[in-house]
Amino acid sequence: MTDGLREAADVRPCRSLLSVPAGSPALFEKAARSKADAVILDLEDSVAPDSKAEARASVIAGLRDVDWGDRIVCLRINACDTPFMYRDLIDTIEQGGDRLDAIMIPKVNSPAEVAVADMLASQVEAAVGRQRPLGLEVLIETAAGLAAVDAIAAASPRIQALHLGLGDFAASLGARTTVIGGQSSDYGVLSEATDDNRARAFHPGDIWHYALARLLVAARALGLRAIDGPYADFRDVEGITSLARRSAAMGFDGKWAIHPSQIDPINRCFTPTEAETSRARAILEAMEAARRDGRAAVTLDGRMIDIASIKQAVALIGKVDRISSKEK
Ligand code: COA
Ligand code: MG
Repeated sequence: MTDGLREAADVRPCRSLLSVPAGSPALFEKAARSKADAVILDLEDSVAPDSKAEARASVIAGLRDVDWGDRIVCLRINACDTPFMYRDLIDTIEQGGDRLDAIMIPKVNSPAEVAVADMLASQVEAAVGRQRPLGLEVLIETAAGLAAVDAIAAASPRIQALHLGLGDFAASLGARTTVIGGQSSDYGVLSEATDDNRARAFHPGDIWHYALARLLVAARALGLRAIDGPYADFRDVEGITSLARRSAAMGFDGKWAIHPSQIDPINRCFTPTEAETSRARAILEAMEAARRDGRAAVTLDGRMIDIASIKQAVALIGKVDRISSKEK
């Protein structure tokens, strides 16, 4: 594994992923010139059922004609229970050329759905002589999908990333949130009532904590990327910043953007700070000195560090190096 990612992983930075409706090809060039690390061309829920064929043709033209630079280009196809999925895969792989990096399968409920996409992609790739196998990205956004996430994540060696889609997930759970990817002001608890009637503080929680942690563990157990989905209130910069910072703190690699205004805040939150980077370098130096002295646990800035600290520091510096080599 490299920096916790498995050998077959795409190691390009993937902090911000800009979703672009495939029915709006005028946005493709804007997305290709943005600072997003990845672009998700969307054939699914941002395209009306009657416009799927036209959007598919736009994706094929966009994959061939637009200069996407070195960013990750991903195509969100329609889900396996729709009449569109097979043609999304076949037509785009047959006619879209080699630039596409990965196919995203939405609303995955079982490993069988991943197997179907893998098998179909293998057949079309062989037929057109595609040299570089497409990656698969899995969008978990139902209760069934999250319950089966370990088996889903292991269903194909093509899988690069797990994504959590909170709009559909909220609907699947019956959660009473109103903004896609947002919180609920009802989610929290009052401190206990006391006999002397002390003031009771409200403690807000993160309504998505369990789902995020569950998906993150499943992804990391297999060396996959973990990606947090969209937040629909694109005017709320403070909101996207707090959500992205939360996911970055947990260990996520990146977050979707649905509007260009969300890219900078997301990139910032998922880029380690100078202070974190210097500390990671200091940890590696201190641990190297400790190794020479035959010690495994030492003190740095008044705190204990040990061999576990090396792993965290190496992963962080790997991330910083990948980001800075992209931004050169
Ligand atoms: N990708 C690339 N460019 C985008 C963009 C996107 N997703 N969203 C907006 N832009 C561009 C606009 O074209 C506009 O460009 P201009 O200044 O050259 O005219 C600029 O960014 C500002 O856009 P704005 O006017 O604020 O927004 P809008 O009303 O045009 O669009 C949305 C708002 C929500 C409809 C649009 O952002 C969008 O379609 N987002 C993606 C939706 C999606 O993918 N959903 C599925 C996944 S959840
Ligand atoms: Mg969805």
